[in-house]
Order: sequence, then C-alpha cells, then structure tokens
Amino acid sequence: MCYAIPGKIIDSNGNLASIEYFGEIKKARNDFFELSPGDYVYAQGGFVIQKMSRDEALSSLEAWKELFFELKKIDNRLSRAGPGMGKISKETARMLNKARRGAALTKQEALALFNIEDAREINLLFKTANSVRQKFLSNACCVHGIIEFSYWCVNDCLYCGIRSSNKTINRYRMAPAEIIESVKEAYDLGFKALVLQSGEDGYYTDETFERLIRDIRKDFPVLILLSAGEKGKDFYKRAFDAGARGVLFRFETSQRSLYSTMKPGRDLESRIEALRFFKKTGFLIATGGLLGLPGQKKEDMIEDIFLAKSFGADMYSFGPFIPHPGTPLKEAGIIPADDILKFIAVTRLIAPDAKILVTTALETIGADMRRRGLLAGANSFMLNATPETKKMRYEIYKNRAGLGKDLRVQVAEALALLKELGRAPTDLGYN
Ligand code: 5AD
Repeated sequence: MCYAIPGKIIDSNGNLASIEYFGEIKKARNDFFELSPGDYVYAQGGFVIQKMSRDEALSSLEAWKELFFELKKIDNRLSRAGPGMGKISKETARMLNKARRGAALTKQEALALFNIEDAREINLLFKTANSVRQKFLSNACCVHGIIEFSYWCVNDCLYCGIRSSNKTINRYRMAPAEIIESVKEAYDLGFKALVLQSGEDGYYTDETFERLIRDIRKDFPVLILLSAGEKGKDFYKRAFDAGARGVLFRFETSQRSLYSTMKPGRDLESRIEALRFFKKTGFLIATGGLLGLPGQKKEDMIEDIFLAKSFGADMYSFGPFIPHPGTPLKEAGIIPADDILKFIAVTRLIAPDAKILVTTALETIGADMRRRGLLAGANSFMLNATPETKKMRYEIYKNRAGLGKDLRVQVAEALALLKELGRAPTDLGYN
C-alpha cells in the first residue's frame, strides 16, 4: 500500500535477490529486472515488483526511518508472550512451549490446541502465535487489494452465493478496460499487490486474460494474483508468462467426500493437482478453505492446515462459511469467530514463516476481527478495490465487511490499524 518500504539489493544471484530493509535482510524472487547490489526495489509477496531510482528510494527511506523503528518497538511490546504459564494446564503449556521452540506440532496436538476452551489458555495461545509470527517474520505485514471482476460462475457449489443456479442475484462482468481503471485507482492509492477474482467464468479467453495482465504490468508495477478458479493449465501458464505471479485458489476442504458434496461434479484430486501445477510453475500459492461447513469436523479443519502445508502453501486463507439465502445451505449455522481466531493461531504454530490472512469473511462475522486476527498470528489482509456499484452485487455471502466503504476510507483505516499494532510493510519475503 501507500505504506511501502523500498529495499536495497545486497545480493542478486540468478532469480533470487537479498534485500535489506533498515538492517533486516529478506529474500525475494526476481523474474523481471536486471539487478545489482546497491539497486533499490519494492518487493511484494516475495517477488521484486519494481525497480526504482536511488533518489526516490532514499527520500522514501528518510521519511520512514523514525516510524520504522517506532513500529518495531510497538510490535515487540505487543508480541511478548507474557506471564501466566503457571496458571494453565500442564499439557497446554507443554504444547505451547514446544511450538515456541520451533518444534513441529503433531495433528493431535494441533487439534488439542484448537479445542481449548479456557479463556486464559486461549489468550496464551494467541500470544504464543503472535510471538512466533514476530520471531519468524518480524513486524512485516502485507495488504493486498482485491478486484472482483466477474460475478458469473459455471459451478454450482452448495455454499456459494454466486452458484450458477442462484437466480436471485444481479450478475455483472467487467470489461478489461474497466478492470484496468480499478487497477489504476488502487495503484494510485499505493497498492502494490492486487488479486483479480471472479467466478469460474468462461467468458474471458486465455488471450484476453494474457493481454490484460500484460497491459496491467506495462503501466502498473504490482504483484498480480489470480483467483479465477479451475481454468486449465494453458490459462495459468500464459498468465504467468504475461507477468502474474500469484494464485488464490482454495481447496475448500481436505475431506474428499465433503468436497464432492459441496462442489457437485468436482473432485478434490483435480483441485490439488492444479495447486501442485501452480507451485511448479512458480506462482505464489495462497490457499485454504472454508471453516464450519455442515458436516465438517474440527479434526477435518486441522487436516486442512496440514494439507495446505504439504504442497508448500505460501499464504494461508481460511475463513468462516457464511450461509447465503439463495443457496441450499441457507439454514446452516456459522462457526464462532473465536474458533477462527484459534484456528489462525494454530495455523501460525504449524506454519511459522507463512503469510496468514485475516479474511473478509472473518471480518464479517465478528467485531474487530482484523485487529484480533493480526494479534492471533495473522500478518496479512485484503481491502476491496472493486468499484462500489459492483462490489455490492458480488454476493458470495451477504453483508460483507467493507461494503459501502470507499477504498480511500478502507486504506485510511488499515493504515491506522497497522500503525497502532506496529506493523510495517516490509516485504514478507520468499521462502
Ligand atoms: N461463505 C464464505 N466464503 C465463501 N466462499 C464461497 N462461498 C462462501 C460463503 N458462503 C469462498 C470460497 C471461495 C472464495 C472465493 O470464497 O472459499 O474459494
């Protein structure tokens, strides 16, 4: 976002660069530029996305200097694990100590932590996750923008408001020129990473998309992530070659039969195969699933974290399922927001160096969830950069957080929160 810190290239070896931010070194993949030590760049999501002049970088760094160290102090204070270990059960203390040491938790331990109910223990779980986040990634935090460009979908997923048989909604598609206008608006507000999201919509051909990505990259040095569903290998290969570097592609649930029930005509194997293909291609992988689907058990959700880890997820995106009235699951309940916070914390203990999102769905079901998620181990969130008139119509579920809030206002609120929590827009790095 406008909140972005330039880094200085320390070393550039093939496609991997080492970048320094006020003494902290992060790695980033460099696919786009000729780089030498001493050059200045912006990196996002572990990718170098822009090379900049020394003068521009130095004036930005000068403006950042004081605030950067101030933010670190705040984050250090907030992420101290704190006292109280003595007052909790021995078993919980043992598991949290193990995680804090960096040892890998077993599935049983992860489930046990997900199941804790005692308020003190929950608080300690959050604090531990937050301190692990701080230890591995310092106070780096990334904020992506999302542009929802088409509300058409060929699928008929039981949980999703945009399912093809929901006739109660007023669908739209944005033309490439309109998408670029939204990219421009977000870019001008300082966004450096944008997700292009849609239903699985065959309207946009591989060529259209490839051109769109090239056009965006030509004028706007942003990290482009795609979230357009199962579009085929050729689509993604061409998108990668055109300059897209991330995919947001959830597997929704690790449970094979639940998956096929929720997504008629689809199978989990193909979904996972697609994720493996994205990883091999070189995309940043943001993945995860829905929490609280009818019939989903807590152990299934824990299994989801391990599945995401097994194919090298870079970013974990898990959020609550929220029933939409135009779907067969309209009567279903919603998982408590506190369970999602516990889930985020457990995810952090299992994937200490990951980017972990606070999802819009979580922000929708509880008050102050962005802040609480960031204090429970998360280090990333998204703002909605879809034009206001369209945003209202993109009803995956109803009453999404951020509706009716102009992008400018969303950015101002996000910056205030990041400053309050001591988070900086240093890139999270490439693992
Ligand atoms: N509640 C919450 N999230 C949903 N998604 C789809 N429908 C819902 C819902 N009812 C999520 C899916 C999909 C992402 C784009 O939106 O996980 O991958």
